[in-house]
Amino acid sequence: MQDYRLEPARVTDAALLAAMSHRFVETGLAPAWSAARIRWHTRHPDSIVLTARIQLAPIGFAIMRYGEDVAHLNLLAVDPAHRRRGVARSLLRWLEETALTAGTFMIGLELRAGNEAARAFYRALGYREIGEIPGYYQGMESALRMVRDVRARCEPTPGTPQQTP
Ligand SMILES: CC(C)(COP(=O)(O)OP(=O)(O)OC[C@H]1O[C@@H](n2cnc3c(N)ncnc32)[C@H](O)[C@@H]1OP(=O)(O)O)[C@@H](O)C(=O)NCCC(=O)NCCS
Repeated sequence: MQDYRLEPARVTDAALLAAMSHRFVETGLAPAWSAARIRWHTRHPDSIVLTARIQLAPIGFAIMRYGEDVAHLNLLAVDPAHRRRGVARSLLRWLEETALTAGTFMIGLELRAGNEAARAFYRALGYREIGEIPGYYQGMESALRMVRDVRARCEPTPGTPQQTP
């Protein structure tokens, strides 16, 4: 297995990341994540576009927008050839640590209701489902809304083992 490293996206990654979003996240939908939109997030001070790379090539990425009270995970995808190796877990934990450092404790996200792999992934990382939004994806598919309080990981009850995801 090749080692990957995490680093903020470059502006020049935007077209490739948009293509990954269209293939792996927005399958069957009209693409909402254009290269221009991703480029905007790479430049915005309240957003982070984080990539996992092998050598120069992005093999996964995530986009988070940090608000006062809630940080929102906009996108997360890993190339199929590199899945189940902890890449998405590393990306999300990095973004969660950043939120924690910034004093933003809640992470929120939506995912397609039929996306069982992502649902299992977020559950494994400690996210809980708080509702369903019918027709959220272009009227074609519902969204599940999930949240996690990132303080849960660093404030164990005294005398009990620290929670693992
Ligand atoms: C969901 C996704 C991001 C997971 O990426 P990944 O790098 O393979 O995930 P990880 O290896 O970090 O998985 C961490 C844990 O999540 C759970 N998990 C991940 N993928 C899973 C799957 N397909 N089925 C069940 N559990 C899964 C497991 O508990 C896993 O730990 P394990 O491998 O030790 O059992 C990836 O499948 C993907 O890119 N899917 C398409 C895009 C997408 O759905 N994005 C999310 C919605 S925006």
